[in-house]
Amino acid sequence: METNSTGKSKKQTLDQKNSEAMLGGGQKRIEAQHKKGKLTARERIGLLMDPGSFEEIGRFVLHRSKDFGLDKEHYLGDGVVTGYGKINGRLTYIFAQDFTVFGGSLSETHAEKICKIMDMAMKNGAPIVGLNDSGGARIQEGVLSLAGYADIFYKNTLASGVIPQISAIMGPCAGGAVYSPAITDFILMVENTSYMFVTGPNVVKTVTHEEISSEELGGAMTHASKSGVTHFVSENEIDCLLSIKKLLSYMPQNCEDEPFSLHYQSGDETRPELDNLIPENPNQPYDIREAIDLIVDEGSFYEAHKYFAENIVVGFARLAGRSIGIVANQPAVLAGVLDIHASQKAARFVRFCDSFNIPLLVLEDVPGFLPGSDQEWNAIITNGAKLLYAFCEATVPRITVITRKAYGGAYDVMNSKHIGADLNYAWPSAEIAVMGASGAAEIIFKKEIAEAENPGEKLAEKVEEYTRKFANPFRAAHRGYIDEVIYPNETRHKLIRAFEMLENKVAQLPRKKHGNIPL
Ligand code: HXC
Repeated sequence: METNSTGKSKKQTLDQKNSEAMLGGGQKRIEAQHKKGKLTARERIGLLMDPGSFEEIGRFVLHRSKDFGLDKEHYLGDGVVTGYGKINGRLTYIFAQDFTVFGGSLSETHAEKICKIMDMAMKNGAPIVGLNDSGGARIQEGVLSLAGYADIFYKNTLASGVIPQISAIMGPCAGGAVYSPAITDFILMVENTSYMFVTGPNVVKTVTHEEISSEELGGAMTHASKSGVTHFVSENEIDCLLSIKKLLSYMPQNCEDEPFSLHYQSGDETRPELDNLIPENPNQPYDIREAIDLIVDEGSFYEAHKYFAENIVVGFARLAGRSIGIVANQPAVLAGVLDIHASQKAARFVRFCDSFNIPLLVLEDVPGFLPGSDQEWNAIITNGAKLLYAFCEATVPRITVITRKAYGGAYDVMNSKHIGADLNYAWPSAEIAVMGASGAAEIIFKKEIAEAENPGEKLAEKVEEYTRKFANPFRAAHRGYIDEVIYPNETRHKLIRAFEMLENKVAQLPRKKHGNIPL
């Protein structure tokens, strides 16, 4: 057997190096990681990837720093495990930061490893998953680590819309480090053990005198419900890793690929329960998730951004085995009104689906845009336009079902035929009008009502007249703006056929460098 200068066989040397690499920053640091309720980078990869499929790349990489005693402290792989493997049987690239090595901090070489794996993912057209657990820029390296971050941001941006990019935050993610996950398509966070912020509680206290904990400032629930930065929240790391697997199962490998389909045996597609979903009183709420669950393949709806802007619901589902994206107004929250956050949430989701060939289904029950100075001053105009723009630009198959209200500008925005939807259906309960009947009657019959002997009676009469004329889907159907008025129970059946019909849709946008979405 070949030996080296120390007399050890080459295999022995490799085994020794491997075992060092397996230990990451050492047994004590691994135990500290476990004590915090966190797994190590390799344990996470082992749970996420299909058994035995992971191939590591760059295991022997060492940092090149010489300052602050780092020349005497080296760990194989330099704080990040990178490679490729299979998830649900499909090629996926991964990097997992190893907190046991210099707190997972990002050095020049650590960044190079991540960039290398991103380049491979782009070249070979497969998703990339990043498991983030890092103290940020490696302080001892100064500008070299900042440059490394910038290299990653640049590649994140180039990869956007080419391959799906998923970021799980499984520990600290602070400072400029937050911007890489922010550019990726979906962020997942783990409750109590992960946090994200641009400036931490200490800096906040110094600058603003506000005292706030890490969890409150940038924990999972904060970003899930207040800022909307994260799309998914998990109770623990295993749950988070399972969520990544599930999320990927709805996506194609890249922008040229079709989303993954499951085999489907067609059966009785009528859903009589849908006929009883809409309350008699048009102002009474109902949960649109019930409609979604009855329309899509059983148990297939996977909601994203669940706790943010709950007046709109977005998520993935399967219809006859095919992946679709769903955007639905939620009458159970704020009557399903469109506001700034709802518009931002839905617009980003629409753009993701359109980037990756995932057909869109819109369920519409919207009383309009939310009025008020708060909304106006915070730019409901610009933000509402984001959703409008996103739908206008989307070339994937697009179908809308109006279940009840489609009022005002929101009728146009919510994937109407006028902005390129392929099919618009309406249930008989649909009301397609400029506004609700009482508001409309008060404006257009103002004089008549004021002059009436009994203004209250007159108003009621005019509301009734307006309702009769407009609180139905037929005016729109007569003009062809609604393709068909359908019974709720046949919605699933109609949609399966319609999406199948649209399977080979070809639609192109005018030639341009890129559009200018109202950001
Ligand atoms: C080098 C770091 C490090 C860093 C942690 N470590 N962060 N080493 N650079 N950024 C090391 C620690 O020295 C320690 O080494 C080990 O990792 C574990 O850290 P602990 O502090 O013991 O862990 P914990 O108590 O869990 O605290 C985690 C932490 C804290 C909250 C992340 O370490 C921390 O505040 N780190 C600094 C965070 C930071 O300010 N980073 C720069 C952000 S600015 P030993 O040897 O003792 O085990 C930034 C700019 C990016 O990132 C800009 C991009 C544009």
